Formats: sequence, C-alpha cells, structure tokens
Amino acid sequence: MEIVHIPVMYREVLEQLVPKAEKAILVDCTTGEGGHTARFLEKYPSLKVIGIDRDREIQKKAIERFKDYGDRFTPVNTWFNDYLAKAETESADLILFDLGISVFHYVESERGFSFRKDEKLDMRLNLDSPLTAEVVVNEYPEEELANVIYQYGEERYSRRIARRICEERSAEKITSSKQLADIISQAVPKEYRYGRIHPATRSFQAIRIEVNHELDRITPALEEAIRVLKVGGRVGVITFHSLEDRQVKWFFKNRATGDDPLLSILTKKPIIPTDEECKENAPSRSAKLRVAEKRRSV
Ligand SMILES: C[S@@+](CC[C@H](N)C(=O)[O-])C[C@H]1O[C@@H](n2cnc3c(N)ncnc32)[C@H](O)[C@@H]1O
Repeated sequence: MEIVHIPVMYREVLEQLVPKAEKAILVDCTTGEGGHTARFLEKYPSLKVIGIDRDREIQKKAIERFKDYGDRFTPVNTWFNDYLAKAETESADLILFDLGISVFHYVESERGFSFRKDEKLDMRLNLDSPLTAEVVVNEYPEEELANVIYQYGEERYSRRIARRICEERSAEKITSSKQLADIISQAVPKEYRYGRIHPATRSFQAIRIEVNHELDRITPALEEAIRVLKVGGRVGVITFHSLEDRQVKWFFKNRATGDDPLLSILTKKPIIPTDEECKENAPSRSAKLRVAEKRRSV
C-alpha cells in the first residue's frame, strides 16, 4: 500500500492539539490515508482516534495502515457533519479537520478530479450519491452552472465557461476530465489560458465542491464539534481556500465574543506552513490552520 499524501503542517497541528488526559480521544474528521492520525498515534501511546472519512476507498488505506493499532483506531465511513451531529456531548478531547481532498484523489482515484488526466467525470467522495460531476456539467442549466463556477471557484470567466460548456454539451455529452479541461481552456481569453495556473483549476474546484456539498458542511460541523468537545478540549481546522477559511474564522470569532464566550481563539492569525514545507509539499501552499479551545459547556 503506497501512501501518497503528505500531512500538512503536522508539526504545528501536534503543537496545538495536545491531549490533556492520558486516555484522550481524537476525532480526525478527515482521516484520508491517515497522515495526521499516524503522528498522533505514534506520539501518544494511550490516545484513541476515531477516523472519519466519507470516501470508502481512501478509508481502506487508513484501515490497512492502522491494522496493528487494534481499538486505538476506529474508522467511521460517513460525512463529518453527520458523525458529529450524532456524537455524544463532551466525548472528545481533540477534533481535527483537514478540509478538501487528498493527493490520492488526484493521482489514484480515477474519478476525474484532475484536469491533467483523462478520466470519467465523477468527483464524488460518496460513491453512493447520484450527483456526479458529469451530472453537474451536462444537466445543470447554464445560469446555475455559471453560479457554481463563480461562487465556489471564484472564477471571473464563469459565464463564458458555462456558456461554452452548454454549447459543447448540446453537440456531444461531456464525459471526461480532459474533455472538460479542453472546453474550459477554449472558453477563456488567450492570456488567461497560459497564465500562472491552469485555466481549469478554479472550475474543477467549484464542480468538486458542488458535487460533495463541501461548503455546506463546515459551519454545521463546527457547531456540533464544540458540543462534542470536552471543556478544555481543542478543535483545529486546516483550510485550503478563502471560502473555507472565512467560515472557520467567523465561526470562531462569533463564539469567542460576549460576556461568557464559549471558545478561546488560540490562533489570532492563522498558522501557515513554513517556506520549507511549501517548497517540499506544494499542495500545502494555501493552507491555514486555526485552533480554538472550549471554555465551558454549551
Ligand atoms: C485533505 S484530506 C486529509 C488528509 C489527512 N489529514 C492526511 O494527512 O493524510 C481530506 C480527506 O477528508 C475526506 N473528506 C472531505 N470532506 C469530508 C466530509 N465532509 N466528511 C467526511 N470526509 C470528508 C476526503 O475524502 C479526504 O480523504
């Protein structure tokens, strides 16, 4: 089993999320291949991890990786917001979110997450869901598609891209990531086509977010997370773009004000990766870590 994902800011995460009790429980809401979980299990021999991931394929890798840890690693295959909504109040010492998708999804999943590959347009984390990227791209009305690309991709050429997709799909169904990437490249102005990032980057991000309803899960999950945390427990969130970070920032701020605030914010400014980490692990470049501690019962 090959591990392809390098955990982002794991040293900083370990520094911030320190268990106060010996037999502490960490809920890793986005376990993936288990990069962060592995560091916690190694560092704290009595710590137990509940490892959430909606994607059963990547979760198989984590299960294999931690098979010798017995009941110290408990995988749960569900969305993190659903798990937390049902979890017992004040049952976790630490809760970690490392949002988005993993390198596995780009390089191994064969689900069309990467515009550099020619794969079926799928992009689902939940393989039982009927909503695939192919459905979004071929069936959404033009305006709705443009809105998705604009809102979740912050793509300034969203209208042009949506128009072009709709023209192309009326001639032939769009079924592959390469086909979609080529259509997007054709839709944008030449100077943008050869710019700093691939012209399809933002649209692919947007479609993936839509398929998995990623942004709708963050604030509800944080709301539940602070109920599930023990008093004195900590929640850490790593985000990768401003739409995610904004939600975390405002949520923490909101719960950390007033006469008897629920949270203390431990990261006035978010922690970002060192230059060295950015060089060694390109996907970490846009990461931000925010951490808060629960001060009292909800
Ligand atoms: C950035 S990766 C985590 C990487 C992991 N921390 C590591 O270092 O190996 C995010 C993982 O969370 C999963 N995921 C994303 N959103 C989720 C959600 N709302 N509920 C459950 N799992 C989710 C993805 O399938 C992916 O495996």
